[in-house]
Amino acid sequence: MVKKLFYPCAGPDWRDAFRYFSKEVDEFVFCDLKYKFNPKNLNRFLIGNNEYEDISFTLRPGLRIVDHASNFENVKLLPPEYTKFIKHKISNKTKKIIFKMESAQNCLDHFNDEEIYVFFHRGDSEGEGGSDLHFFTNKRNYYGTAENLYSRLIKKLAPISFVASDGSNNDVIREQKLNLQDMTDEQIENEIIGKNFMHDNLEWTCVKRLNDKNGPTLVWKVIKK
Ligand SMILES: C[S@@+](CC[C@H](N)C(=O)[O-])C[C@H]1O[C@@H](n2cnc3c(N)ncnc32)[C@H](O)[C@@H]1O
Repeated sequence: MVKKLFYPCAGPDWRDAFRYFSKEVDEFVFCDLKYKFNPKNLNRFLIGNNEYEDISFTLRPGLRIVDHASNFENVKLLPPEYTKFIKHKISNKTKKIIFKMESAQNCLDHFNDEEIYVFFHRGDSEGEGGSDLHFFTNKRNYYGTAENLYSRLIKKLAPISFVASDGSNNDVIREQKLNLQDMTDEQIENEIIGKNFMHDNLEWTCVKRLNDKNGPTLVWKVIKK
């Protein structure tokens, strides 16, 4: 099975997600409404990791496809997309990286069921500059552009998946009241890593800590029971 990582609202933080999961993930999907793909800014999407070399890429502009034959209202929108194939120099393993200039809520719906192996989301907020997208609750966002994100996401998560989060816009983690900001690194290591809880039919276990964003980014193993 192809292991996929999805990082919605990734902005420039995609590079860290790639770095942390490049060994185990085969395909990365990063989306952000502000991504722009033109010859002048493509270097923003350079891997910058000399263990990998570029093999090929495709650059697709946004497309609006109207099916005049069947129905004028049958319009399909394809967002601008920049896809790169890179190769690990030692193992020869190929990785696919897709950058989409698309809303995260639409991008989520393009995955097949149980296809997302890693869901990475951090550094986000409800406020200015943030997406106000909450993937761990079904409540509607402030502008009403997204709802039921939790149910939609859970369907797409693999039976055993990993959620990387700094707690931002993550209602399940917030409910746990972890108070990480009041903890020392040692306390996080001793009291949070290994922590386990059930939420709906999902078993969450904290398996590791990555670098800090708004707070420590934790990786949770999520098992569908
Ligand atoms: C606060 S920034 C966080 C960026 C990144 N996660 C980080 O930690 O650096 C939020 C990002 O979400 C993007 N964004 C806002 N609404 C979005 C949406 N509906 N779909 C996709 N991206 C969105 C913005 O363009 C912005 O880059």
